[in-house]
Amino acid sequence: QQRPYQTKLVLLGPAAVGKSSVVLRFVSNEFQENKEPTIGAAFLTQKCRLDSAVIKFEIWDTAGQERFHSLAPMYYRNAQASAVVYDITNSSSFEKAKSWVKELQRQASPNIVIALVGNKVDLLSEEGSSATEGAQKQSEEGEEDEDDDDDENETVTGNNTGSAAAAVSSKRAVPKEEAKAYADEGGLLFFETSAKTGEGIVELFTEIAKKIPID
Ligand code: GTP
Ligand code: MG
Repeated sequence: QQRPYQTKLVLLGPAAVGKSSVVLRFVSNEFQENKEPTIGAAFLTQKCRLDSAVIKFEIWDTAGQERFHSLAPMYYRNAQASAVVYDITNSSSFEKAKSWVKELQRQASPNIVIALVGNKVDLLSEEGSSATEGAQKQSEEGEEDEDDDDDENETVTGNNTGSAAAAVSSKRAVPKEEAKAYADEGGLLFFETSAKTGEGIVELFTEIAKKIPID
């Protein structure tokens, strides 16, 4: 039985993209429809068993609201790994994720493992269902307090002007190829996930664990 190898991992990204939900899925295999925004940061741990070692992630789940931005360096300092999360249905969240990546590349440890994570892929599986239903669901979601800082949901704005069919197909706001190309260029790991269904979550943490240099 090997001793777990402790690894500090930080989650970064704008508000309401699902950072806490991704962690909750990984740590407890649960999902909460109305997860409250994180204040400051939350600390959780979870082990990840590889063939070669057991990695014990010490996870800092940071708050995405802009007023907490200045706290982030405390959490990414000395981190060996980070997951930068955006919401695939919200293009401004992708732009903000990219600026988090830049900040990490400038300020964090030079050998930090960075994973870019496009969350909420489950929202796309509604494309197969009735167009009107999908469009309605989305505008309802637009009313919620998900974006309680300066964000606006661009996808919803577009929907109100387009046809119902166009509305559903525009649910994906960040093309997978575009995000993957950006990740490849910067040497980042890349995953699309759903904290709601669990898709991609174990893979995300396992692939990060495999990249941690064990001395
Ligand atoms: P901050 O703590 O404010 O930075 O937000 P966060 O990034 O931690 O987001 P959080 O996990 O609190 O999730 C925000 C909202 O999105 C919640 O209502 C979640 O239930 C929902 N959510 C999170 N992940 C998913 C997902 O994969 N799919 C869907 N459909 N909803 C999700
Ligand atoms: Mg949170």
